[in-house]
Amino acid sequence: MKHWHIEEISWDKFDASRLDPEIVPLVKAAAMVERNAADYVTYLTRVFADDPDFSAAAEHWGVEETQHGDALGRWGMLADPGWDFAAAFARYRAGYRIQLDAEASIRGSRTGELIARCMVETGTSSYYTALGEATEEPVLKQVCRLIAADEYRHFKLFYDHMRRYLARENLSFVKRLRVALGRIGETEDDELAFAFHSANEPADMPYDHERCTTAYMGRAIGFYQFRHIERGMGMIFKSIGLQPRGRVSDMAAKASWRLLQWRRDRYRLALAKVANENATRLARAA
Ligand SMILES: [Fe+2]
Ligand SMILES: [Fe+2]
Repeated sequence: MKHWHIEEISWDKFDASRLDPEIVPLVKAAAMVERNAADYVTYLTRVFADDPDFSAAAEHWGVEETQHGDALGRWGMLADPGWDFAAAFARYRAGYRIQLDAEASIRGSRTGELIARCMVETGTSSYYTALGEATEEPVLKQVCRLIAADEYRHFKLFYDHMRRYLARENLSFVKRLRVALGRIGETEDDELAFAFHSANEPADMPYDHERCTTAYMGRAIGFYQFRHIERGMGMIFKSIGLQPRGRVSDMAAKASWRLLQWRRDRYRLALAKVANENATRLARAA
């Protein structure tokens, strides 16, 4: 059973006058990644082929993630009636695929795989909380709240299975830390950048990783507040077996907040530069 159904959302309350144009492209991009969950289910059920409990949980998880994609995509079409969610998603599928032929986890162990999943759910749980709090548009607020609650449940799901495997595999702290940091570092890989491209750029425009990462991150980072980072840091700490609340987690949260602000400013400068160049080009052409 899903915790909610897409038809329960008050779609008729959509209010175009309360749209933030910076949020729309982010929601469209997120719809791509979420809607693509079926491939992760295939991958996870292969990696955990002899674990029927986990495989069943992964199937169910995939159904919820797919619904996230459908809800975000539907909202994207309300916000921009000219946008074709299905066509954008087809472009995403055509250009981005995860590795499916794995017999074992690409993270080196099952514990590692589940820690990586915890990192992803920490990220999505914080992100939708931040977006939901930032937007004034009532339907997006509702969608983000429902999704954020699912993402937190997903975190707990993967965390519980991770504890089970940790007892068996005994993965060292250093290895757990390495997997966690590695997965966080992948935020700037192609998955999100290409999703931004497929969802927002013209079909005949060639994909450029740098440009799309800047476009995505330059907007996304600005919606976070310190409390989101603080909570996310607690979840990261918990996943690798450290005290989720305390002096160390507090220091780490403050340090990553500063780093995030620095990166936000850098991305914004790059975004402004691109906007300037485009304006100059248009002025010259006129
Ligand atoms: Fe999701
Ligand atoms: Fe999730």
